[in-house]
Amino acid sequence: MKVLVTGGLGFIGSHTVVELQQKGFEVVIIDDLSNSSIEVLGGIASITGKTPLFEQFDLRDKQKVETFFETHNDIVGVIHFAASKAVGESVEKPLLYYENNLNTLIYMLKSVVQLEASFIFSSSCTVYGQADQMPITENAPTKPAESPYGNTKQIGEEIIKDTCKVHSKLNAISLRYFNPIGAHPTAKIGELPIGVPQNLVPFITQTAAGLRKELSVFGNDYPTPDGTCIRDYIHVVDLAKAHVIALERLINGKNQYNYETFNVGTGKGSSVLEVIKSFEKVSGKELPYKFAPKREGDVIQAYADTAKANNDLGWKAESTLDDAMDSAWKWEQHIRNI
Ligand code: WQD
Repeated sequence: MKVLVTGGLGFIGSHTVVELQQKGFEVVIIDDLSNSSIEVLGGIASITGKTPLFEQFDLRDKQKVETFFETHNDIVGVIHFAASKAVGESVEKPLLYYENNLNTLIYMLKSVVQLEASFIFSSSCTVYGQADQMPITENAPTKPAESPYGNTKQIGEEIIKDTCKVHSKLNAISLRYFNPIGAHPTAKIGELPIGVPQNLVPFITQTAAGLRKELSVFGNDYPTPDGTCIRDYIHVVDLAKAHVIALERLINGKNQYNYETFNVGTGKGSSVLEVIKSFEKVSGKELPYKFAPKREGDVIQAYADTAKANNDLGWKAESTLDDAMDSAWKWEQHIRNI
């Protein structure tokens, strides 16, 4: 069965393509290479022994999207990762984010509806903002988005929900990711942040690799046990597996509703200092860091209630924080040849 993965050369996309191929799916990737590199295609093939079909174009080109689906009219499912995802950049360039993240979703959905294919949407725990209760369940209220990026995820979910209401044959799932980290255990694919990493874990591994002088811990007087923010860090391979399970749920007609949402996290919260400690334990290296002012827009804590994903979806994270930090460090060593 043929599956389209948009953004399939990106961090989560590439790990999902590996899992799809290993489950026997034929994969076609569309990626515009704006935030990924063509080498990732070779990385995927070196793991699975199969090179996915690949087309490079911008999904904002409506005509190209339509032509693509005329050619590949045997697609049974679409996993839609392609989007701009830098929170800070979205504040400076809102129109880029609304155009790129929403227009492409609309063009994708128009074709998916026609094909009556299954649809998996890459959403985010960002939709919850600072939730009042921990752990966060799927029916926790969404809060006004902290950034245009987060808003595109909220609006994206609404667009899919409304479309599913009028197209009973459209089956869709939104997966609300918590914090994806780590890399494939083969160290042949992983996270490739462009420029200075915004996210915690790549900044840690680049500091340990000598590319950054020290890590700045953004705030250490939050109302948490050790004063630093708490997040739910999930191994990217566990997250990738969740996509395959969600797609199979729809293809096999196991879904209860034609639109469903699932939190995808470990259910465990870890503070920034705990992540640092985990890295030092698995790498045997001391990480230089200092405390710095809080970062605008950061929530104090966010970690998932995973009961729905565990019980309804039939998926559970298997890797620990140490596993994920170990894989992240092995990947950094691989790309820096250290
Ligand atoms: C984690 C913690 C920082 C860097 C973001 C997006 C979210 C999702 C995942 C796409 C926070 C602290 C970080 C640093 C630090 N992306 N930190 N020093 O902000 O939870 O989530 O990535 O869907 O939408 O918002 O992840 O890794 O940036 O930060 O102290 O140099 O690490 O303050 O507490 P975040 P993050």
